[in-house]
Amino acid sequence: MAFTVTSSSSAAISGSSFSRSSSSSDIKVAQVGSLRLADRHATVNLSQKRLAVKPVNAEPKRNDSLLPQAASISAPEVSEKVEVEDFEQLAKELDNASPLEIMDKALEKFGNDIAIAFSGAEDVALIEYAKLTGRPFRVFSLDTGRLNPETYRFFDEVEKHYGIRIEYMFPDAVEVQALVRSKGLFSFYEDGHQECCRVRKVRPLRRALKGLRAWITGQRKDQSPGTRSEVPVVQVDPVFEGLDGVVGSLVKWNPVANVDGTDIWNFLRAMNVPVNSLHSQGFVSIGCEPCTRPVLPGQHEREGRWWWEDAKAKECGLHKGNLKEDSSAQLNGNGNGNGAAAHADIFDSQSLVTLSRAGIENLARLKNRKEPWIVVVYAPWCPYCQAMEESYVALAEKLAGSGVKVAKFRGDGEHKEYAQKELQLGSFPTILFFPKHSAKPIKYASEKRDVDSLMAFVNALR
Ligand code: ADX
Ligand code: SF4
Repeated sequence: MAFTVTSSSSAAISGSSFSRSSSSSDIKVAQVGSLRLADRHATVNLSQKRLAVKPVNAEPKRNDSLLPQAASISAPEVSEKVEVEDFEQLAKELDNASPLEIMDKALEKFGNDIAIAFSGAEDVALIEYAKLTGRPFRVFSLDTGRLNPETYRFFDEVEKHYGIRIEYMFPDAVEVQALVRSKGLFSFYEDGHQECCRVRKVRPLRRALKGLRAWITGQRKDQSPGTRSEVPVVQVDPVFEGLDGVVGSLVKWNPVANVDGTDIWNFLRAMNVPVNSLHSQGFVSIGCEPCTRPVLPGQHEREGRWWWEDAKAKECGLHKGNLKEDSSAQLNGNGNGNGAAAHADIFDSQSLVTLSRAGIENLARLKNRKEPWIVVVYAPWCPYCQAMEESYVALAEKLAGSGVKVAKFRGDGEHKEYAQKELQLGSFPTILFFPKHSAKPIKYASEKRDVDSLMAFVNALR
């Protein structure tokens, strides 16, 4: 399953990129805050290097080196150099650097111990940048078993185009069996995508990363204003462990963090890079087939992922470190309103009705209401609720006297279980429309919470 992956450029394999690697090996130990990070480069000649590539799913071994096991290859001399690397500082220094420079730095620093995480979408740009550095590089992908046929075809095309082998990681068969036998093939539509993502993506990723000291992702700030707006170009991975087996032993590079989607596409076109054919069918962000759909012009790309969930924190777990504490707790189902006391109430407006528990229970029971209602189920500490406060209050003011009631119900703490069971609460905020002649509330599925989008929702249903 694991393959040696090198650049398609033979010059890069046999030439200058390895001349920087004499027959020595550097060991760098980086201290980042309280985190220790070991960055060990084995530097071997070409034939050694080819054999030395460690599969991304290699079992982590402490004090392991990249030296090939093959008896015919002699071990390079080792000279140790201990150096402290401050990745926060490096991120600042590289913040204005081009993706190519960042990629070059990443590959230079980590050699064989770094790999590009390739999803089969527009992050093919990473592979192109890696090729352009002229250095050898590795690519892995998490094959969840649920990708679109077009994505598999695209993987094949990419392998041929770059002359590489992608190191596929598969989920554990026993875990998939257990999930699917007990809950069926589409349980994520019923109880959220976290469980399936954990089995099919996150655990295989964890295994992959344990064989590495660094990884490279295609995360961009503009991909998800809710969760990715602060992604740095390089960071100590806050969640996953690398080869040394502790949190803090892995570096995460995001060379296109500061690039926007349009520029990625300009680059792909300019370089005539193969792209996933799903893009021409309206797909932007591409994940698994059942959980990805095309988006309309003007819709945010994240709206094409897990659209049935009202999650503002749409991260499947690969990049969980992007989530702030509160939303992360939501994602894990643990959000219980801790810290609520520290937050003043929000959605403060005369035009808004504050519903008590009894009030919302009554409203939910009615089959024939005098007028339709729109209700936000919120928690005052939730940053996504805070972010929509202004537009929701504006909506209430616009709708005042129109025959549509605008209300809020605080659904955290002791009310959370009820809200989850009866009010379709997945994460905060959840916006519900209670039509005049039907008991069942309709959930607002979009992440757009500007006043016009909310008004369009109301007008479509009133
Ligand atoms: S996700 O967490 O929502 O699925 P997204 O699709 O935005 O992530 O991709 C962000 C980055 O995560 C990609 O550029 C890629 O580096 C990595 N990634 C996502 N899915 C995969 C995958 N199936 N295999 C490898 N890397 C992936
Ligand atoms: Fe499962 Fe969907 Fe997550 Fe893919 S994206 S692993 S199908 S829940």
